[in-house]
Amino acid sequence: MWKPDRSAPIPLYQQIVDHIERGISYAQLPPGSSLPSERKLAEQLGVNRSTVMQAYEELRASGLVESVVGSGTRVSMTKWGVSQVHTPNWRLYTDGGTFLPNLPLMRRIREVTQYESAIINFASGELSSDLFPNQIVSRILREESFGEHLGYDDPQGFLTLRQAIAGRLLRDQGIRTSESSMLVTSGSQQSLYLITQCLLSPGDAVAIEDPSYTYSLPMFQSAGLRIFRLPVHSDGIDPEDIIALYRKHRIRMVFLNPNFQNPTGTTLSDVKKKRVLAIAAELRIPIVEDDPFSLTGFQGIVPAPLKAMDQDGIVLYIGSLSKIAASGLRIGWLVAPQSVVERLSDARQQMDFGLSIVAQWTAERLLSSGEFDIHLQMLRESLNQKQRFMVDALTDSLQEKITFSPPVGGLNIWCRIKHPADDGKLLEEAIKRGVVFVPGSVYGSEPGYVRFSYAKPKAEEIASGISAFAEALERV
Ligand SMILES: Cc1ncc(COP(=O)(O)O)c(C=O)c1O
Repeated sequence: MWKPDRSAPIPLYQQIVDHIERGISYAQLPPGSSLPSERKLAEQLGVNRSTVMQAYEELRASGLVESVVGSGTRVSMTKWGVSQVHTPNWRLYTDGGTFLPNLPLMRRIREVTQYESAIINFASGELSSDLFPNQIVSRILREESFGEHLGYDDPQGFLTLRQAIAGRLLRDQGIRTSESSMLVTSGSQQSLYLITQCLLSPGDAVAIEDPSYTYSLPMFQSAGLRIFRLPVHSDGIDPEDIIALYRKHRIRMVFLNPNFQNPTGTTLSDVKKKRVLAIAAELRIPIVEDDPFSLTGFQGIVPAPLKAMDQDGIVLYIGSLSKIAASGLRIGWLVAPQSVVERLSDARQQMDFGLSIVAQWTAERLLSSGEFDIHLQMLRESLNQKQRFMVDALTDSLQEKITFSPPVGGLNIWCRIKHPADDGKLLEEAIKRGVVFVPGSVYGSEPGYVRFSYAKPKAEEIASGISAFAEALERV
């Protein structure tokens, strides 16, 4: 009996689609023949029902199968036999292009978190919906009148929003900038994309932290960059490693997430920050500072961003509302020298003409409202409480088996497993028990690490989720 191959780089649902397509074109499944129910096929193949649902959806979209009320899914009566001739082979196209697909483990995690609503989610690095500022946004939409121009706006971003962000950056993080040195982006992710596409060329060497969120982004490989690693210690990277990498590989840019780093939760000490800036100035290489978490410090203490100490215009600073308000707003910003902002705005115009004015106006109203500071205060308290629940659960269920340092900000706990297990197997065992996390290899680390995010699950799910993970670990 055919089964999908979990070690293959092709997503499970796609393997099922290919298998059924083959059956149809070899006439093993003639027109009108019934396909098993989603639940039954999922059982037979040992996959989640959501995977089969996705495969059937794809087959339905291509017209090869149809759903008939009362009799389930069957091979289409009309398309059979001709579809291979008339339908383009989309696989040939989707396997092409220069943009690489996500890592298989990331695709698996996304598949599970998207389709399994009951799963306890320690994988997504985002806030739970009760932490989003829904009430403030609803009040703004209800009470404030929108009078902005609805035509194409400046691709650099809505001016009033840029002014509001500049004001907050100065007040909250000590960063002096102005609206002309800022680009509004669709989250930090787009800033990273624009930088890798517009400021670097294929073959360029870049340095990133090890482990690092950036490592999980095939976007760097898609841009043809050569990636070199700066190991992260308990107080961040060792700045001298930048010099060593520069001498060996002529690195052209350094990507750092210095405050409450994802995934380790560590913060680069002030002494090290100053040294990083001095080294970058001496070598004349830019630092990209990805800083989505610095306002999440549980005690309300904001670690100084590199940008606040940057006297020489070395740092390209990336911020976002995703981790402090809501990821679905898709509002981020890049602070950079004006020549860089102009270059990226021009690219932006070619890509998408900038963000929706409605989202930008809402974000501006949110940031300018007195309620946003109250929201931030509540957010920090809730994150701190969830972090404590997770630390307690890890101590209760896994004390002998893992080590970790409780973070003092950010959304994640980074754990070392004393006796490393196979990442893929551990993930599958955990999913079977209703919990999902991110294996460390996704961040480029050596085997034996896992990242648990405490921001997304409900507080009352944390203990049972960790105990389900402990069972999975025991099993593997
Ligand atoms: C360090 C880091 N940078 C960037 C991002 C992307 O965030 P955004 O939603 O702002 O695009 C994330 C999301 O997890 C992140 O952890």
